[in-house]
Amino acid sequence: MAASETVLRLPLGSLFSSCHLPSFSLNSTPLLSFKPSSSRKRRGLRCTNTLARGDTFQSPDCVFKGKKLQSTRCRCQRNDVEEDIRSNLLPSDGLKSDLDEMPLPVNGNLSSNGSTQSAGTNSIEDEAWDLLRQSIVYYCGSPIGTIAANDPNSTSVLNYDQVFIRDFIPSGIAFLLKGEYDIVRNFILYTLQLQSWEKTMDCHSPGQGLMPASFKVKTVPLDGDDSMTEEVLDPDFGEAAIGRVAPVDSGLWWIILLRAYGKCTGDVSVQERVDVQTGIKMILKLCLADGFDMFPTLLVTDGSCMIDRRMGIHGHPLEIQALFYSALVCAREMLTPEDGSDDLIRALNNRLVALSFHIREYYWLDMKKINEIYRYQTEEYSYDAVNKFNIYPDQIPSWLVDFMPNRGGYLIGNLQPAHMDFRFFSLGNLWSIVSSLATNDQSHAILDFVEAKWAELVADMPFKICYPAMEGEEWRIITGSDPKNTPWSYHNGGSWPTLLWQLTVASIKMGRPEIAEKAVELAERRIAIDKWPEYYDTKRARFIGKQARLYQTWSIAGYLVAKLLLANPSAAKFLTSEEDSDLRNAFSCMISANPRRTRGRKKTQQPFIV
Ligand code: GLC
Repeated sequence: MAASETVLRLPLGSLFSSCHLPSFSLNSTPLLSFKPSSSRKRRGLRCTNTLARGDTFQSPDCVFKGKKLQSTRCRCQRNDVEEDIRSNLLPSDGLKSDLDEMPLPVNGNLSSNGSTQSAGTNSIEDEAWDLLRQSIVYYCGSPIGTIAANDPNSTSVLNYDQVFIRDFIPSGIAFLLKGEYDIVRNFILYTLQLQSWEKTMDCHSPGQGLMPASFKVKTVPLDGDDSMTEEVLDPDFGEAAIGRVAPVDSGLWWIILLRAYGKCTGDVSVQERVDVQTGIKMILKLCLADGFDMFPTLLVTDGSCMIDRRMGIHGHPLEIQALFYSALVCAREMLTPEDGSDDLIRALNNRLVALSFHIREYYWLDMKKINEIYRYQTEEYSYDAVNKFNIYPDQIPSWLVDFMPNRGGYLIGNLQPAHMDFRFFSLGNLWSIVSSLATNDQSHAILDFVEAKWAELVADMPFKICYPAMEGEEWRIITGSDPKNTPWSYHNGGSWPTLLWQLTVASIKMGRPEIAEKAVELAERRIAIDKWPEYYDTKRARFIGKQARLYQTWSIAGYLVAKLLLANPSAAKFLTSEEDSDLRNAFSCMISANPRRTRGRKKTQQPFIV
């Protein structure tokens, strides 16, 4: 279907009485059409009312309490809007919100004097909340996300003034944990409307279901009337991004956040909506589609996740696999059975089992495994080869020989034919713990590894995005001489405070919160003084990153989530998944069917049927 013909219909309850996304009833009459427009420039979601109900709604544009809400009018009506936003952000449990002290929302801009410290608040946490609130982005008066960075002194904004899907996750979780649910629900529902039905780049239209990397609220002249303006949500699917990288992780994070929203609020009506169910299925279909690949892991191009530049992570990077597994588990919990979904659910179950087997068996690395690889035979042509991927022992890098502690281990960064990427990637390892992609023993071993390698992985600021950095010729060839990803900077061995929240969820899940506590304490020594940088440079994370943004929202939100979870560890359950007995059974069956492996697991009572 051509994008211009695509009209995504949102059923409306009370949307335009308050200009908020409503708690829709599935049967309510569609009133509002969101049209992704066909031309590249005009593509996006526009807040245009095409049908009117009674006197309350007048098209076009956002109608706000019976009046048109355009950006120009919006400013005139700041008091109305402000009032509405405040009530929209009141904690759902009815508690008074700190928002009463909050400056006016200005789509991510700082207050007029550029100040980022709020008067009367001393603690780092209070400052972080103020900053997080100042980063909120509004669409037609409703909070729908947080801007990536709010650095008043930055000379080049690039796309840091956008709402990134992956960056919003810690913001969303912080708001959920604080009882402020509307912004998360709005984010989920509006980004769903942006989901690609037809993605184009250079006249090519790859698969449906992709979620954008980021979006921006733009105020544009109203079609046919230059004296008026309207607000448009303009998504970027990577077609404008540096390097044109594909945001594979966006849809996976979206599913994970959707499940967290339901768990935290107890409101499953959002995930049960027909359009939301369709959105989940579109993401799953895109990920589960057959291709040429032999592996159950998801095959992606370089830079398709948090590391969104060329870093030699094309193929089957661990971060994507951990998010993929997590999204499959979350989707399985949320999908409502209906006619025609059997095949999808069967494919999902099969993939979960194959994926966990593949990662646990072939990505795992510890002293024992290195020793096995060291003695590998190569060129084995047979079905039961030991060295299935034909890894040449010479690939074992010299840094690894001394680096691997006797106790502990981790999942390697990537596995391809004749290639193991031995680098340690934090997010993939931490999320493998959170999602139970790693076994219980492996999860503890990863945390043992983190503790043993604290000086390298945490040092002066948590947490290294990957270890070690690529240097010299390797850096030149693999990054393409990327001046931003020089050794021990940015994605190439830089330290990212946002990773604190994933470290916290993982360590709470494994009953070892003291690991996260130690990391948070360390971060608190300088993160606010340093103005919440995006990342730190050098081996020991001693400098603020060369080109790091300050007031980076996910550094702020990551810290807040860590604090909130450490204060209330049981809330980590909104994010974690336990391996269920079906999966455990199936995994055991695969282990026993594999002649080389015996893991001493209990014999299963019944076979797993998919
Ligand atoms: C950088 C990060 C990416 C993040 C973006 C916005 O490009 O690599 O993960 O989403 O900045 O903060």
